[in-house]
Amino acid sequence: MKTIIEPFRIKVVEPLQMRTRDEREAIVRQAGFNMFLIPAADVLIDLLTDSGTGAMSSLQWAGVMQADESYAGSPSFFHFERILREVTGFRHILPTHQGRASERILFELVGGAGKVVPSNAHFDTTRANIEHSGAEAVDLPIAEARQARNRHRFKGNMDVAALEALVERVGPENVPVVMCTVTSNTFGGQPASLENLRAIRGVCDRFRVPLFLDACRFAENAWFIKQYENGQHDRPVRAIVREMFDLTDGATISAKKDGLVNTGGVLLVRDEALFQRASNLLILTEGYVTYGGLAGRDLEAMAQGFQEVLDEEYLRYRIRSAEYVGEKLLSAGIQIIEPPGGHAIYIDAAAFCPHIPPAQFPGQALVVGLYRHAGIRGVEIGSVMFGGAGRELPSMELVRLAFPRRVYTQSHMDYVIEAVIEVFERRHDLRGLRIVTEPPALRHFTAKFEEV
Ligand code: F0G
Repeated sequence: MKTIIEPFRIKVVEPLQMRTRDEREAIVRQAGFNMFLIPAADVLIDLLTDSGTGAMSSLQWAGVMQADESYAGSPSFFHFERILREVTGFRHILPTHQGRASERILFELVGGAGKVVPSNAHFDTTRANIEHSGAEAVDLPIAEARQARNRHRFKGNMDVAALEALVERVGPENVPVVMCTVTSNTFGGQPASLENLRAIRGVCDRFRVPLFLDACRFAENAWFIKQYENGQHDRPVRAIVREMFDLTDGATISAKKDGLVNTGGVLLVRDEALFQRASNLLILTEGYVTYGGLAGRDLEAMAQGFQEVLDEEYLRYRIRSAEYVGEKLLSAGIQIIEPPGGHAIYIDAAAFCPHIPPAQFPGQALVVGLYRHAGIRGVEIGSVMFGGAGRELPSMELVRLAFPRRVYTQSHMDYVIEAVIEVFERRHDLRGLRIVTEPPALRHFTAKFEEV
């Protein structure tokens, strides 16, 4: 059959809060036109992030009840460790409270002044942790990644020639690790191919530099490989995932994405000495090695989540729903980053409202418009997020609509599509914004705006 359905049925429901347009108008003003300052209870469809916002399965909740909360040597840890070993092939598995905790431990150990860490595209917490250690974070995406309309299937690929040139220029002794983010959140939720990962591995071997994955969305990446990479179509996703990890020396993972849990992280390391140092730092700042800042119940939920995410019916539905939204918006004349990403759709806000200059934040204007019109919360990824305090303005003004896993149904997506199209039809009513108050750093979380 042609129709792709949600491959689950609903056992527990959570009512949505319906607010009137007038109520939303008061709420958005009260929040200074900043989506992070709007109480979640006043949001109808929350597409702020796909991180930690997913729904757990009946088996995950059963795991929560069965979990063991011993400080050391909990059976829940051994269950989690066994599953992560099966899925990734790594022997050394450390739990952390979320992805950035894994990043912080890794870069405290391998970063430092004078070091350079290349990636296809660092996520902002990864970049911040690298820079916090004193090292430099460098993005080396392929050229196609920066072209919104380019439908290259693997826009998450790294420019391997640029990687080679960089390592040669700074010297391999100054490159403690090469990272690759799968999928590339910064450039639209786009995947990296196995071919590209193998080529990166080749460069790393040549220079004897380790390769680490930022593997938050490893299963979504593997699904794209299965769909679009030559020779991969008949392989199980599990085998593709295994090959992705086999090519690497370690990984940082936010389990809040493809771990299908509300909080949790993982740090994988192959090197024995690095593992020992990471374990010591974990104990110092997160918790003992068999819980890493989490409860036993979180470890059980992760053990189950990391298996469920490999279910191909789930991945088919998951990737199809983002594609469905993306293709409908495109056919209405709305420019998005093409092709649609795995976990989100990124709307080109500069094209959406050309009457609003970057200095008046077209992405923020669109985010406000979507909330006002339909109670939908997206996030600006443009001049509000990246600009300020003498920083260079980003090359694109984007609005990300990120999809929580297993939370919304197709009719919710139809509502989102209709809302975005209606706002597009009235785009000339969208108004630019100016910042009234802003903090010195990470201003998008707390800045307040007024309409121009
Ligand atoms: N790496 C990537 C690619 C991410 O997308 C995120 C989080 C992290 C690392 C950090 O993980 O939040 O568990 O500490 N991304 C979320 C987002 C916040 O909305 O895209 P964390």
